[in-house]
Amino acid sequence: MRSMSKLPVIILLVVFVGTAAAFTRPHAGKFKNLQVLPQDIPEQKLDSIMESYNKALGVNCKFCHVTSVVFPGTEMDYASDKEPMKENARKMMRMTIEINKNHFYFNKEERPEYLNVVTCRTCHRGEPFPEQ
Ligand code: HEC
Ligand code: HEC
Repeated sequence: MRSMSKLPVIILLVVFVGTAAAFTRPHAGKFKNLQVLPQDIPEQKLDSIMESYNKALGVNCKFCHVTSVVFPGTEMDYASDKEPMKENARKMMRMTIEINKNHFYFNKEERPEYLNVVTCRTCHRGEPFPEQ
């Protein structure tokens, strides 16, 4: 009965692989308050998008985000919508996604939210409030 003796090993393997898969899922639900970007956005992708906003507008994260109420000064509360500039930025994000989706959606495998033919930088060029 060699095959029977392998059963516990197989069960253990299935449990192990299943658990590992659950933990490596694309960060589903990692972020708490995404209304424009995809819920399952990988952390690295979100980071690089946020960095690109800093550069495009010539600002830092606090232009759109507030510090935590519990640990002000030391910790940021990125999920909070207390800074009104964040909602302004959402409107700009929606507009930019629409422009790309309607006019530059060449590769249908890409998610429209990740298209970057037209970016914040195209208009902002390092300015938070571009003149014209
Ligand atoms: C121009 C405004 C702006 C700047 C600058 C900015 N962010 Fe954001 N950030 C946003 C908006 C808007 C959202 C919400 C996106 C949505 O609703 O899909 C967001 C969401 C986030 C989230 C997800 C929070 C959650 O749990 O919902 C994190 C984390 C974050 N930003 C980090 C950063 C960091 C770090 C920086 C600086 C490197 C930064 N942001 C700079 C506008 C900005
Ligand atoms: C098609 C050009 C264009 C693109 C693309 C664009 N913006 Fe803007 N944005 C503007 C203009 C013009 C203003 C100034 C509006 C004003 O002064 O009333 C502005 C203003 C803003 C402001 C200041 C608040 C406000 O609503 O006036 C924020 C924040 C902002 N943009 C964020 C972004 C982010 C983030 C992106 C990329 C996701 C982006 N913008 C893409 C043209 C653009």
